[in-house]
Amino acid sequence: MSQRLRIALTKGRLQDKSVELFEAMGLDCSPVRNPGRRLIHTLPNYPLDAVLAKAPDVITYVEHGVCDLGVVGKDTILEKGGAFYEVLDLGFGRCRFALAVKRGSDFYGTYKTRRIASKYPNVTRAFFEGKGMDVDIIKIEGSVELAPILDLADGIVDIVETGATLKENGLEPIEDVAQVSARLIVNTASMKLYKNEIADFLSRVERELGGQV
Ligand code: PRP
Repeated sequence: MSQRLRIALTKGRLQDKSVELFEAMGLDCSPVRNPGRRLIHTLPNYPLDAVLAKAPDVITYVEHGVCDLGVVGKDTILEKGGAFYEVLDLGFGRCRFALAVKRGSDFYGTYKTRRIASKYPNVTRAFFEGKGMDVDIIKIEGSVELAPILDLADGIVDIVETGATLKENGLEPIEDVAQVSARLIVNTASMKLYKNEIADFLSRVERELGGQV
């Protein structure tokens, strides 16, 4: 008998896109679309159960093996790291990490240590370490664009999708830090234990993604 797999989906936009993808593959996702107060959703026509979680928790569940698979943004993977297989770029949730500053400000034109605000301190640290540049990093939980406006920071490292938020707040991106999109991740033990089940699921995803190009 084949093992039912469990997948953790990042709540919100990635959840909607994941459901669209799975439905295009022929999976009945009505339990995820109409969750009620249930937390685990059993798909009726494929041996897969889905849980919805915040992005960092998707990684935690997959790392601990309580979920075999996960859909999570590369932004969270870069920030949190962890031991799992990153097997597929799902192509949706595309955006980028960028360094942004007040429009017209000369970020590199000073010797003093720059202050950078970000929700992603590890990504920020790795980026500036790669340049051999010493910066002070201030962790901000949301609306990071406020930090340079309030003169708390010289720049921010943040997610840019359309660029509208930066523009409307008098900021401009000056450098790309990393490309971001949704990734399918797999627990390392599940990959061996449920090799056939995971291979079947991956091949269905790949077939669907292949058909989209
Ligand atoms: C993200 C990001 C930017 C905005 C970028 O914020 O932090 O603020 O989206 O999108 P844009 O380039 O299309 O304008 P999010 O909506 O996740 O909210 P937050 O600022 O509270 O984290």
